[in-house]
Amino acid sequence: MSFAIPRAFRKLVVRKLTPAFKDAIEIVQQNVVPPRSREVLIKNKFLGINSSDISAAAGCYFTEKLTLPFEIGFEGIGEIVAIGDKVSELKYGQPVMHMKYGAFSEYVYVPEEDVIPIASANGSLLPLLVSGATASLSLDKCGLILPGDKVLITAAAGGAGHIAVQWAKNAGCHVIGTCSSEDKVKFLKSLGCDRPINNKEESLVDILHKEYPDGVNVIWESIGGKMSDTLFKHLAVKGRMVVIEGISQNTNEDLEKDAIKGLPTKLLQRSSMLSGFFLPHFKNDIPHYLSILVSLLHEQSLKPHIDDGSSHGKPFKGLEDVSRAVEYLQSGKSKGKVIVHL
Ligand SMILES: NC(=O)c1ccc[n+]([C@@H]2O[C@H](COP(=O)([O-])OP(=O)(O)OC[C@H]3O[C@@H](n4cnc5c(N)ncnc54)[C@H](OP(=O)(O)O)[C@@H]3O)[C@@H](O)[C@H]2O)c1
Repeated sequence: MSFAIPRAFRKLVVRKLTPAFKDAIEIVQQNVVPPRSREVLIKNKFLGINSSDISAAAGCYFTEKLTLPFEIGFEGIGEIVAIGDKVSELKYGQPVMHMKYGAFSEYVYVPEEDVIPIASANGSLLPLLVSGATASLSLDKCGLILPGDKVLITAAAGGAGHIAVQWAKNAGCHVIGTCSSEDKVKFLKSLGCDRPINNKEESLVDILHKEYPDGVNVIWESIGGKMSDTLFKHLAVKGRMVVIEGISQNTNEDLEKDAIKGLPTKLLQRSSMLSGFFLPHFKNDIPHYLSILVSLLHEQSLKPHIDDGSSHGKPFKGLEDVSRAVEYLQSGKSKGKVIVHL
């Protein structure tokens, strides 16, 4: 196996902070240099798109302010094309996945400890990476899910949501999933979701009152704003609400607007828990959870779904299409994990 490494490669950088992703980014060239001692150089073949790409480009993702221009993108799959002189476990040509910030690039330098070897470089494993790790770790570590729990997943047909639905089902939970179309309802049924709810057609509040009068045990919340307030009222006694993000406000810097009034008393009244989850804080747990996700995939107990845009036009191909893929995710039309082929 041999790879011709070019003298330079192209990558995306954020030039201007704005929620309009395509206006925020620019493609630039970077010269190829040898990887550092404990790094490898990976040729990316597939990129994973995340809702957090939008908040990162708007300058709302990181707690510290980054200096413009900065790199963007959270994950990719590719093959190792060069190895630092102190790297011992990884080989030239090895197919790998990585969660390297700055992943939206034709080639990427990654420290050896952040590289996950895989059998072949195909995009079908991308749903397991950021989305799968987020879904599984947040439900276990913060949702503390138990068999028999009623678990409500928001944006359940999305990249992280569709893995969350299946993770909770595999744990023996009753799963309620919110989404915004009949097509997504069908998709959720195919994943085993017990009660898919199309927000556009049905009243979430009415359904929760009628069908879940004692409340739900775990709420996996990624929408924010009004949705968050509404759902919080339907937590069961000893219920846990896990805040994953607030996509409806992921460009909103006025965090005070989110506050649930009288929160400490409301938590006390139902012995309930409200917890935040941010994947980088669980970095040490990721390899273990990825290995479980891969085993579930091999046992066919997990059906990750990839969406490369072909059902809505041309498939996303090349760095130029990253902004089209991000806009597609933002449109709410995507199902499962949005990916771009390089
Ligand atoms: N905390 C962490 O460490 C972490 C890590 C990864 C991801 N996340 C979060 O997990 C959530 C899911 O991320 P994802 O990348 O897998 O995205 P996604 O769920 O594939 O796509 C977003 C979905 O959110 C729903 N949505 C609801 N309100 C929306 C709005 N105002 N604008 C756009 N979409 C809206 C849409 O589904 P419906 O219309 O069907 O509801 C849409 O399909 C995001 O909030 C993301 O930020 C958090």
